[in-house]
Amino acid sequence: MMSKNYPRGAERIQSFGTTVFTVWTQLAQKYQALNLGQGFPDFSPPEFVREAGRKAMEGYQQYAPLKGLAALRNALAQETAREWGRLVDAETEITVTVGATEAIFAVIQALIDRDDEVILIEPFYDSYPASILMAGGQPRFVPLRPNAAQQWTLDIDELRQAITPRTKALMLNTPHNPTGKCFTAQELHDIAEVCIQHDLLVIADEVYDRLLFDDRKHLSIATLPGMWERTLTIGSAGKTFSVTGWKIGWVLAPPDLTHALQMAQQWIPFSVATPLQAAVADVLQQAQANTYYSDLRAFYQKKRDFFFRVLQEADLNPYPAEGTYFIVADTSAWGFDNDETFCHHLTTQYGVVAIPPSYFFSPQNKHIAHKMARFAFCKEDHILEAAAERLRKK
Ligand SMILES: Cc1ncc(COP(=O)(O)O)c(C=O)c1O
Repeated sequence: MMSKNYPRGAERIQSFGTTVFTVWTQLAQKYQALNLGQGFPDFSPPEFVREAGRKAMEGYQQYAPLKGLAALRNALAQETAREWGRLVDAETEITVTVGATEAIFAVIQALIDRDDEVILIEPFYDSYPASILMAGGQPRFVPLRPNAAQQWTLDIDELRQAITPRTKALMLNTPHNPTGKCFTAQELHDIAEVCIQHDLLVIADEVYDRLLFDDRKHLSIATLPGMWERTLTIGSAGKTFSVTGWKIGWVLAPPDLTHALQMAQQWIPFSVATPLQAAVADVLQQAQANTYYSDLRAFYQKKRDFFFRVLQEADLNPYPAEGTYFIVADTSAWGFDNDETFCHHLTTQYGVVAIPPSYFFSPQNKHIAHKMARFAFCKEDHILEAAAERLRKK
């Protein structure tokens, strides 16, 4: 049955609303508010990144191969060898995608049949359920809940209980948007054990793998025993190099899963913008040889520390922000029962936009986020300082 929302649209899109980011970015514009909603850097990428973009634009104008430009796949293989201590085969185990979003869509198209179930740990990145529904699959939700120490925790028994004979895969995002949680080695081992026991595939979204704070080290679930064979690891240049508009992502997976992915990929974008792939190949090689990754961490750690204190001073008690460029705050002290009402108030009365995190929960678990707001601190210092000034008015 057609909904009256999109009368000429297909059934599969009838439940979709406009993304939370579009909605709140429009609101930021309407009220001329500081936009700490959407997670994109509002500053230029470093000069070596822009220069790589300019150079690549001169040299590459035609289609790239389906699996991606060899130079980029080789650079990714080198980086993975260094980070994982594993040789990932650039020919048979790497696919370049149109950012992580298209990687997620293509992976799900390639692996999920009608009525297959996919477990989502919530809060989830909002493209996950949409991609699953478009493939005819069913998302099943398992929540993270904050404990008394404000740590987000996963109840592993609840995860086990969510598995049925139709469960095909689990999606895992670490470092995690929107909470800033980095799953611990113990948690990853527990999740891996469940996935092996129930023969589940894991779609590991690791787009924030370079953004961890306080000397934390990123751990990929694919590197745990018995996991490489069942894991597709998704990365993106967007967050790491402050080029979210380039939309260059990738998937690392064993040959059979890579082959399946490429069967779908060939009919989605077929291939990905060639000059931008060449530019990212160049940038990865330079970043491996210079101090970019540690500089990036220090750069964001400073912003995180600053904004964490700002939230504390504004009685917006922040949850631990271990990674990503987001902080979730507890808004209880401001006396609102609903995160949307709070964020609306903050936008219209204080000129600061945050995102209501209940958008990233299924209907039965939205209540977990009703006294929370998500702030993105990937913004210029003067914007964060201006936001601090406005929040101090409380
Ligand atoms: C968890 C997560 N996955 C995927 C993406 C999308 O990445 P890309 O811009 O490379 O499509 C984002 C972007 O915000 C994200 O936060």
